[in-house]
Amino acid sequence: MPPTVHVTGEVPARVHDALEESFALVDRVEDVDGILSLLTTRVDGELLDRAGPQLRVVANYGVGVDNVDLDAARARGVVIANTPDVLTDAVAELTIALTLALLRRVAEGDRFLRRRARWEFSIEFMLGETLRGKTFGVVGPGRIGRAAGALAEGLGARPVFAGRGDDLAALLATADVVSLHLPLAPGTRRLIDADALRLMKRSAVLVNTARGQIVDETALVAALRESVIAGAALDVFEHEPEVREELLGLENVVLTPHIASATRETREAMGLLAVDALRAVLLEGRTPQNVVA
Ligand code: GLV
Repeated sequence: MPPTVHVTGEVPARVHDALEESFALVDRVEDVDGILSLLTTRVDGELLDRAGPQLRVVANYGVGVDNVDLDAARARGVVIANTPDVLTDAVAELTIALTLALLRRVAEGDRFLRRRARWEFSIEFMLGETLRGKTFGVVGPGRIGRAAGALAEGLGARPVFAGRGDDLAALLATADVVSLHLPLAPGTRRLIDADALRLMKRSAVLVNTARGQIVDETALVAALRESVIAGAALDVFEHEPEVREELLGLENVVLTPHIASATRETREAMGLLAVDALRAVLLEGRTPQNVVA
C-alpha cells in the first residue's frame, strides 16, 4: 500500500498527477501519513492530533510557514517542509509590478477610464514618479528581498537593505519605496506601525508582498488619509481574504489578491517541490531539502 496523503485544497493538475504517482490521496485528514497544506490551512496541534500519531510530514505549499505551529509539529516529531527559491523571482516581479503601478498610477488610470471620466492629453495630467534615481528600501534582505532589490537596481533605483533591527529606522527615513520581505513571526507582527509610518518620508510609498499582519492596517489607513505617506501597494492583508473598506476607497492605493507567487510556472514548481518533500520522508527515508522543523 502506498502512503496516504491529504491535500487541503486545489492544486495544479501536474502536481495532482505527481501526488497520485506516489501516494494514495484521501479526502480526510484522519489517519494519514502526510499532508500537503495550503497557506489558508491552520496547521496546529489540533489538526496534527486529528491526523494521528502516524503522521510524519506536512509539506506547506508556500515559503511562509506562519500558518504552521512549528513547536506543535516538533513536539509530535512531524517534519515540516516549505517551498523556497522557486518562487523568489515571481514574488520579486510582482513587487516591482506593484511599485510601478503605484508610482505611475497604472491602476488609478485604469479605474479612471472605466468610469468613463472625461479627459484629454495634457502635460500635467496624472503625473507620477519615476523609479529611476529613487531609493528602493528592502526591509528583510533574504532571497526575495535581494531579488526585488536587484530588479529595482536594473531599473535605475538605488537599493538599500535593512532587517528589523537598528538599521530599520534609517531605511524608513531615507527610502522612497519601502518594500517588505520579512516572514511573519512574533518579532515582525505590526513592525510597520504608526511610529514606523511617521518615520517614512511624506513622499514615500509602502509595498507589501510579505504578510498583511506585518503592517498595522488601521495605522496605515490613517497615514494614507492624512498624507503621512504618499501611497501603498498591497498584495497581502491583515485579515485575509477580507480587505478593509477604507483601502478600497483610496486612489493612492494599489491592491492585488495575494498573487505574488501566482504564475503558472511558479505554482507548479512549488507544488512539485512540496511533493518531493513528501516523497523524501514517506518513500525514500531522507530529509527533504527544505525542512523548517
Ligand atoms: C506565499 O504567500 C508564500 O508564503 O509562499
